[in-house]
Amino acid sequence: MVKVAPSILSADFSRLLEEVERMEKAGADWLHIDIMDGNFVPNITIGPMVVDALKGKTNLFLDVHLMVQHPEDFLEDFSRAGAQLLTVHLETCVHLHRVIQKINELGCSAGVALNPATPLNGLDYIMEDIQLVLFMSVNPGFGGQKFIPFTLEKIRKLAEEKEKRGWEFEIQVDGGINEETAPSVVCAGADILVAGSYLFNALEPKKSIEGLKRLSSGKE
Ligand code: DX5
Ligand code: ZN
Repeated sequence: MVKVAPSILSADFSRLLEEVERMEKAGADWLHIDIMDGNFVPNITIGPMVVDALKGKTNLFLDVHLMVQHPEDFLEDFSRAGAQLLTVHLETCVHLHRVIQKINELGCSAGVALNPATPLNGLDYIMEDIQLVLFMSVNPGFGGQKFIPFTLEKIRKLAEEKEKRGWEFEIQVDGGINEETAPSVVCAGADILVAGSYLFNALEPKKSIEGLKRLSSGKE
């Protein structure tokens, strides 16, 4: 079944823990935490201190999406703060293989994210070393943007190749996910849906999460 990961970017930060609890009660699987440095992306969010503040306060899997230059400088800090998955952007890593190894050595799962216009071939030699591929379906930096349809083809292509080769990483899709866009995303092969504005603005997030999960009935 597809997993749902609310992105706290759209949470009310003045009541962050309550917001996280609201998503946990609504049936979320993961908590997606967007880290932005004002350099790789045109926005700044939070650092390891905020992740650390949530550690032990929620049972949700802590999924940290690093939209920062030189992510290798921050892996230890986020791992110590409680991150269970660390996703780095392909566009930010000169030594991608080394970064992935470092993440795994720290005891975290390793993810690699691709911007909408980034081709798949940068992943060619690391498919067996990673636990997750994150497809950005908007240009990273802000919540509430419109889903970019051409990313579907990339998702489909990787999902087919994954099936053929027996690779084990999960496919996550992030940006513009809602009840209208999610069906084609799941159909293309997504295992985990990240949704920020759609879930945090929902009056009944439980219904919205159930709706997203229902799309995958039929998928194991
Ligand atoms: C965008 C972030 C996303 C963002 C998604 O740069 O990586 O996780 O919060 O927000 P929505 O779901 O509103 O597009
Ligand atoms: Zn994200």
